[in-house]
Amino acid sequence: MSDERPVAAVRMEALDPALAAAAAAWARRLRLRQGGDAEFALQLGQQGLQFVELGAHAAGPIRVDFVAGAVAHRRLFGGGSGQMIARAVGIQPGVRPTVVDATAGLGRDAFVLAQLGCAVTLIERQPLIAALLEDGLQRAQADAVVAPIVARMRLLCANAIDLLGAWEDAAPQVIYLDPMFPTREKSALVKKEMRLFRPLAGGDDDAPALLEAALALATHRVVVKRPRKAPAIPGVPPGYALEGKSSRFDIYPKKSLKGRAEH
Ligand SMILES: C[S@@+](CC[C@H](N)C(=O)[O-])C[C@H]1O[C@@H](n2cnc3c(N)ncnc32)[C@H](O)[C@@H]1O
Repeated sequence: MSDERPVAAVRMEALDPALAAAAAAWARRLRLRQGGDAEFALQLGQQGLQFVELGAHAAGPIRVDFVAGAVAHRRLFGGGSGQMIARAVGIQPGVRPTVVDATAGLGRDAFVLAQLGCAVTLIERQPLIAALLEDGLQRAQADAVVAPIVARMRLLCANAIDLLGAWEDAAPQVIYLDPMFPTREKSALVKKEMRLFRPLAGGDDDAPALLEAALALATHRVVVKRPRKAPAIPGVPPGYALEGKSSRFDIYPKKSLKGRAEH
């Protein structure tokens, strides 16, 4: 099941003639045209799938790369289990909670949690973003260091509000949410990503319903990432928050995640 949200005009392109058949398969699967006018393109090249804005002043492409670039840098130098997202989901000695990341996006937060040892189910409702993720996860399997990390990540393309409400597996201990927010931090990377993401993902105006569904399912806590100064998602107020330089994690505790020290 996937969300049928209106999407700006996107066409599928092969960047290499040898990939024409594979690009056609993505086009069929995602119901994209392979020619004609478009504002955006999903392109298949030797480095995998990427999403680009077309035209003179277009931002550069976005792709999911778990092996190199910013994600690799964070894997190597990001602070391990001391970083704020780790503390927010309750990682502590002897505790690696099961996590559902219900707003997967480009999977960076989910990757950090998987790298730290959590089994993470990623849910992404925008089929094009889910396609980028699927491609990134698949390519990462070829890397000896990153393969064991992505083996802990499972991707589902669906609206998480529906999926969490009809969950049949064991309930996750933690549900992590990072819905779009209008005024996020202004780094060049974020600005580029927002330009490309907004036409696809919209504004995530239904975040209150998602929070409600998450609170009903998670056994131990729900964690919501927000820009530091943004209000909490309307609805039940968080129990407490962890604040960083640009982001804040609102924590909705349900039950204690006991670590080795507490046994
Ligand atoms: C800000 S991005 C998340 C970025 C992500 N935390 C990362 O590290 O890359 C929000 C994403 O959540 C997705 N999303 C929002 N509401 C959703 C829902 N109800 N179900 C599934 N995906 C959702 C949007 O399509 C968008 O891709």
